Amino acid sequence: MKGLNLCSISRSVHVLLDPRTKATTHQVKLLHHLAAQQHARQHYQQLQQQQQLQQQKRTACNRALCSGKCKKNARGQPDSFPGSNPASYKHTGSVALAAQAGSDVTRHDLDQVLEVKLSQGAQPARIPYMWLRDHCRSERYFNHKTQQKIPDLQLLERDLTPQAVFADEHDLSITWRDGHETHYPREWLAEHFYPGQSCKKTERVLWGKETIQSEPLPAVPFEHHMNSEDGLRQSLHNLVKYGFTMVTQAPPTAEGTRLASERVSPIQESMYGGLWTVSPAMGNNDTAYTHEGLGAHTDNTYLTSPAGIEVFHLLEHDGSGGESLLVDGFHAVDTVRREDPRAYRTLRDTVLPFEYVAEAADGKPPYLMKAYSPIFTEHPGSGELLTFRFNAYDRGNLDTVAPSKLAEFYAAYQHLGQVISRPASEFWYQLSPGTVLLVDNWRVMHGRAAFTGFRLLSGCYLSRDEWVSEARRAGVL
Ligand SMILES: [Fe+2]
Repeated sequence: MKGLNLCSISRSVHVLLDPRTKATTHQVKLLHHLAAQQHARQHYQQLQQQQQLQQQKRTACNRALCSGKCKKNARGQPDSFPGSNPASYKHTGSVALAAQAGSDVTRHDLDQVLEVKLSQGAQPARIPYMWLRDHCRSERYFNHKTQQKIPDLQLLERDLTPQAVFADEHDLSITWRDGHETHYPREWLAEHFYPGQSCKKTERVLWGKETIQSEPLPAVPFEHHMNSEDGLRQSLHNLVKYGFTMVTQAPPTAEGTRLASERVSPIQESMYGGLWTVSPAMGNNDTAYTHEGLGAHTDNTYLTSPAGIEVFHLLEHDGSGGESLLVDGFHAVDTVRREDPRAYRTLRDTVLPFEYVAEAADGKPPYLMKAYSPIFTEHPGSGELLTFRFNAYDRGNLDTVAPSKLAEFYAAYQHLGQVISRPASEFWYQLSPGTVLLVDNWRVMHGRAAFTGFRLLSGCYLSRDEWVSEARRAGVL
């Protein structure tokens, strides 16, 4: 077959497709393959010629720019990317890359990807042309005020092989075949092309007892938390890094709880109201309203979107016991992953029902709450943990696991339960009036030891979206 050109291959295909010939299926497939390959190669060579021609023109223009004879940007007037500086292309010798060797940007038109080195020491990223066009941030396709896309309903109908690609040390630019141009700062690509991390600004510490006790206690004095941007930023930083923080020296009242909480986010109204108090004297049926100890759990697992932060503030206690328990859910899941990867995958891929019947006030019918969710979710690319919900009390009637998978599920679930209840996972802390504890309810579990006497706890929920937005504004997420 060596040396066949496209025409001769096509002729051969036609001959072999003729029922009078006696070609084998294998021969027909081979010739079709060669014809397609030849066609792609010719298309690619045409592209290279076009881009070399463009580059010659561009080089001439750049020379004119340098000598001050040409006032027009060599790129014409493309849609610009906020933060990019089109003028920076004028003197940097941007190059067409189709046939360049040794550049850190390489076209692979046959695979429809652009190979780009995005950071020092890293392997080049292979970015599909489809992704690049879909993530065009020109004003034609993106509203920069709201950070919303302007949908391109014709994306897949377009020829997504770039007409030309240009690069310098700071930016990439693509001229598409429909004439549209897109600029990508390399920094932006490094941050947005499958970064695989929801937070790059604060390194999370997944902690067990030993780790958390070796770190400074995540705590900020009330005055600093309330009256200083740095104080608030420190509280939010603690929440992102450890999944909890404390506000110390607060007024030992429900008003102190409210002030410390609302500094982070408006208090979330729920079926329990806004700011609440818990004591054994209240007669509520929930275990939380008794003297019993409570195992580590997250709250609101039976809600589609559980509360983002739970706030605890001990106002009074005239007995003994009642220490607060914190367990890092991300650390527990990560421990299962290390000890038994199969159990980790089973838990990740199993959706569980969670349910609760909540009493309503004033004789109204009860709330019948139910939600389905896996115990944790992870970023599909990096495996970074994103959410965690665990409440052995509220796990509902198991109708989501096939009978043949039950043994595998229960083994994995029990493994996680045992990790959570290991002393090495637990951080016990005795709260006192004036110390407000804020816990990331999408990551860290809470519980308490049994106690005697009268114990009055004040608290509230804060919404996930509100506090995470505040953390982003503070630059810690
Ligand atoms: Fe709870």
